[in-house]
Amino acid sequence: MGKRIGDAFVVNGPRTLHGTVTISGAKNSALKLIGAALMGAGRTTLINVPKITDIAHMVNLVTHIGATGEIESGPITDTVVLDVHEVIGSDAPAELVKPIRASISVMGALVARTGRARIAMPGGDKIGKRGIEIHLDGMKAMGATVEDGDDFVEITAPGGRLHGADYTLEYASVGATENLVMAACLAEGTTILRNVAREPEIIDLVTFLNEMGANIDGAGDETLTVTGVERMEAAQEPHAVIGDRIEAGTYLVAGAITGGDITVEGINPAYLHRPLQDMRGAGVELRVTGNAIRVLPSDHLRAHETRTLPYPGFATDLQSQHIVLMSQCYGTSRLTENVFETRLGVIDEFAKMGLKAEVIGKNQAIIEGGNPLHGAQVKANDIRAGAALVLAGLVAHGRTEVLYPHHIDRGYANFQENLTRLGADVSREVVEILDE
Ligand code: EPU
Repeated sequence: MGKRIGDAFVVNGPRTLHGTVTISGAKNSALKLIGAALMGAGRTTLINVPKITDIAHMVNLVTHIGATGEIESGPITDTVVLDVHEVIGSDAPAELVKPIRASISVMGALVARTGRARIAMPGGDKIGKRGIEIHLDGMKAMGATVEDGDDFVEITAPGGRLHGADYTLEYASVGATENLVMAACLAEGTTILRNVAREPEIIDLVTFLNEMGANIDGAGDETLTVTGVERMEAAQEPHAVIGDRIEAGTYLVAGAITGGDITVEGINPAYLHRPLQDMRGAGVELRVTGNAIRVLPSDHLRAHETRTLPYPGFATDLQSQHIVLMSQCYGTSRLTENVFETRLGVIDEFAKMGLKAEVIGKNQAIIEGGNPLHGAQVKANDIRAGAALVLAGLVAHGRTEVLYPHHIDRGYANFQENLTRLGADVSREVVEILDE
């Protein structure tokens, strides 16, 4: 058999990182805002959009549905300009939906705007079963009929318009909250959505929808009240995407584990309240000023416990990175993953680098800190695991090759450039794949 080759994000460590990183707009906000633009005709301008591959996929999807779209490249972030047509389609086909999970978020906009949505079932990360029954239950509560096929789902509003409802989400799902709030915007009457997600990206979406003429109250609370309106139009002013708290949190871990001094700029520190609290609990030195957070060298990192939860709890999207932090803390740390089923799978990859951890049951990891890591060839199976493996490479001795770096490109803008500027030795290379 011939040698198999593939792309890799290559890290030579260990290195201590120093400097400042400007954080981009949040992936999980920008993607939804691009979908939400379909809620009204006219020209929308989104600024502070991250330079990540998922954005191009999302723009492709909305242009297929009923818009012309352009991504204007800026030095750090991009601007997306969308001209949404008066008449838009209702179909999100498989080839456009498969590459990104966020494409499911056009469901609410399409049902609201056209009375129907037919969406191919989503792809995305391999981090566990990702059901959509809460999205569909909520749609039904607003009068929709749902046909749940093998590889698509079709939602129809009888008579072309949903009606208001009082609906309690069984779980504060981010995606379901987004779809239901969008569906409710153009419904007849008032919709009360209870037990909704409170993530900062939801607040950004609600702000944007209100700029388009929606009438939504309660963003950031557990209950949203949506008074249906007849029509929405493109927001008059450009909308700036909020900073990416997960990107910021990832660089803060890079600083903490390398004993470096890194400042992240362009992020509201309140979005990271819980992760910062946990990092301080681990002995990480942090300084918060305005829209910047600085991590300073600390020589007494200590074991701690963390469990992921919906916001304002500790973000599951920072879980893999925190396992690397725990590996550098003296003592035994415990991490519980409560949001996704199989997100602790990354531990098998860390083990190849010498990280000592044990998974107990389905969702708990016990991490033995203080053992040196060494370079290895590892696989990125999702965006955050990919970034976390690069972080591990920064403290490991020798060469780490992270295969499948396209996952990292889906969520981290300017990652290689930013890390290089901070003093890391990182490159993109084609390497021989050692085992399959
Ligand atoms: N869930 C259900 N049924 C539903 C909805 C959700 O079982 O109807 C379950 C999911 O299977 C999952 C959990 O609830 O186990 C959380 O799902 P949620 O709907 O809250 O998340 P999401 O909308 O699918 C978004 C982000 C994720 C982030 C989560 C949680 C986007 C595109 N994705 O996913 O981001 O982890 O919220 O905060 O916004 C990432 O950026 O790397 C990423 C995975």
